[in-house]
Amino acid sequence: MHTLPDYPCYLNGAYTPLCDAKISVMDRGFIFGDGIYEVVPVYAGRLFRFEEHMARLDHSLAELRIANPLGRDQWREIATTLVASHARHSSANGQNGLNRNHLVYIQITRGVALRDHAMPQDITPTVFAMATQMNLPSATQRSQGVACVTADDFRWEKAHIKSTSLLGAVFARQIGVDAGAVETVMFRNGYLSEAASSNVWLVQDGTLIGPPKDNLVLEGIRFGLMEDICRAQGIPFQLRRITREEVLHADELLLTSATKEVLAITTLDGQPVANGQPGPVYAQLYAGYTAATLAA
Ligand code: PDD
Repeated sequence: MHTLPDYPCYLNGAYTPLCDAKISVMDRGFIFGDGIYEVVPVYAGRLFRFEEHMARLDHSLAELRIANPLGRDQWREIATTLVASHARHSSANGQNGLNRNHLVYIQITRGVALRDHAMPQDITPTVFAMATQMNLPSATQRSQGVACVTADDFRWEKAHIKSTSLLGAVFARQIGVDAGAVETVMFRNGYLSEAASSNVWLVQDGTLIGPPKDNLVLEGIRFGLMEDICRAQGIPFQLRRITREEVLHADELLLTSATKEVLAITTLDGQPVANGQPGPVYAQLYAGYTAATLAA
């Protein structure tokens, strides 16, 4: 069994050591995966794109017909408190906690009720949040890019909800792990959707192209950020359906997520992507990303 750390997490209004936090076995998050989550990156103590993460949390909750149990200020206060406690805990354990980057994980489930698939009315949502260390890509991954594999997108058709029903993503990710790859790039009916826990982009003739923002992909917070960086740097930006053929012949392929930031895919199914090296558009986007995190 993994030993859980004892720094504080937030559960239903109180701060509790993570190793002691408990919920009911009848929580609908446990029984049905009936909940949503967010993962917010924190650079040197500064929450990055927090408002955007909160807006997506609201959208996910609205899809599940759950009212947000807390206001923006309360969420910010909780996130800040958790990060500060985690940093103190890390320092006390000999790590340079104050300069480290963190992730704030937030989860809200519908709450506790006797088992019945239909959405019960008038139950109190379960609210959980914790801070963890953020492990960013290694120097080698940055300079050489990463290997990915492809798979059919067998997940459900509500991928736009950041739901804790993640078995499809777990299977997808494990396909990559079993193949020694960092991510699994998925296609639905021959069109690119996304990876198990990241968005996927291609570069064609200098244009950054992503799939449409529809129900088949999670609109990563980095969707908006890529658009902003492209605008600032004069890189043409497009969202449209992307065929498997286009992906296989891309000039560059990229992943984005809170933890990968923007990362070059240099091998796909064992074949090099273009010349097998991170490309110039990647370099520009990563520079823009780093600048944005420093300015946050
Ligand atoms: N994953 N698509 C999926 C399916 C994801 O799970 C994620 C994020 C993304 C990228 O979203 P963002 O840019 O907001 O991180 C796209 C998070 C990091 C996770 O599940 O841990």
